[in-house]
Amino acid sequence: MEKLIIKGRKSLKGEIVIAGAKNAALGILPACILSDEICRIENLPDIIDIKNYISILRCLGAEVTYTSDRCVEIDAQRIGCDDTSAANEEIRNMRASYYLIGALLGKCKYVNIPLPGGCDIGTRPIDQHIKGFRALGAEVSIENGKVKAKAKELKGATIFLDVVSVGATINIMLAAVKAKGITTIENAAKEPHVVDIANFLNLMGAQIKGAGTEVIRINGVETLRKCDYMVIPDQIVAGTYMLASAVTCGDVLVKNIIPKHMESLSAKLLEMGVSITEYDDAIRVVGTKSPKPANIKTAPYPGFPTDLQQPMAVLMCLAKGVSTINENVFESRFKYLDEIRKMGVEISVNGRTSLIIGNGKLSGCPLKATDLRAGAAMVLAGLAADGVTEITDLHHIDRGYEDMEGNLRALGADIKRITIEE
Ligand code: EPZ
Repeated sequence: MEKLIIKGRKSLKGEIVIAGAKNAALGILPACILSDEICRIENLPDIIDIKNYISILRCLGAEVTYTSDRCVEIDAQRIGCDDTSAANEEIRNMRASYYLIGALLGKCKYVNIPLPGGCDIGTRPIDQHIKGFRALGAEVSIENGKVKAKAKELKGATIFLDVVSVGATINIMLAAVKAKGITTIENAAKEPHVVDIANFLNLMGAQIKGAGTEVIRINGVETLRKCDYMVIPDQIVAGTYMLASAVTCGDVLVKNIIPKHMESLSAKLLEMGVSITEYDDAIRVVGTKSPKPANIKTAPYPGFPTDLQQPMAVLMCLAKGVSTINENVFESRFKYLDEIRKMGVEISVNGRTSLIIGNGKLSGCPLKATDLRAGAAMVLAGLAADGVTEITDLHHIDRGYEDMEGNLRALGADIKRITIEE
């Protein structure tokens, strides 16, 4: 077993370059299944979720060649849809494996794979994905923990999503790009990675308009070609490092990002007294010794991202007074607060609302990462805390953060990873 050991209260200083977005790449990799030629994907983050997705594609029959640490060429022409059993275990363990349903249905008109797993942050149904596939003409059933979908032909349809869902929006796009006629997705998610995946599909020859707005129109095409594509920078990793600077009273330039994607976080940090300077593709974050309390309400983009709710809670712990969080996207994304409470902060949770009564400090202690962003929040808490913080269950963090401790050490943090006997 591995754990992180952090000696806190070192101000972070310097620059960090942000890699490609996990949640964009996790849609782009399965989208390659729809191409009849080889796709080259650049700026992939070097994280476990991406390695696992590539392993799934290989098990399904794709040829994937790494041309560098961050670039792969994918030839998915020989992927078959009849037997996915070699990849079933990995499919079951990953949330983004749900994109295989849309992509395989689009390619073969048949798919039979395990239901997706992922972070334990709520019930996470896929009813809206299924509603979309059915509207396109597929018969879909769930039996013995697997999703089975088949269609003679997929035909364009109008689909109104009951909830704004990133996964359903992307999955329906994947199934619809090669369907006959026009598909309209209404109440679509507008996240940057929805736009990135639409841009990737369009570069392959798809005809998708309106990605980034609440109405997406897809005119089905027969074939998709090869293309070279560079994944956008990771908005959530960028936000995590912005908050790392804020909670350590640091001075960090977060580079290779799209500042527009960070607006809800930047605005909140300014409100809390943190200094933010925007450049074309970077943001400088200078922390304050006495951050002000604040209230956040998570919401689909361009609202405050649920994925930054947990790292933001750490800054709230350091602000003297009462801060509130309304978590409007996932119903159980507060489990990590039981861990943070151990650091000496008064926190109450009532349904989707939590109150954090900050007293200006955190005290180091052993913590267990409970999911991906919770793990990142605990690292930030350790950086800000008095004394030593030890964090276990690092596999959650490694799913989505590339060499987090190496990056933080380069910014001046006292953090190391050690292996311990089970
Ligand atoms: C994606 O999850 C991300 N995962 C999540 O990132 C992110 O938190 C989330 O979008 C919101 O931005 C990937 O991209 C792989 P949703 P997803 O469908 O697609 C409900 C991270 O830390 N819903 O937008 O699962 C759902 O329960 C992770 O990187 C339905 O009711 O999220 C939730 O309340 C964690 N029925 C809300 O919609 C459905 O069919 C939004 O979920 C689908 C969703």
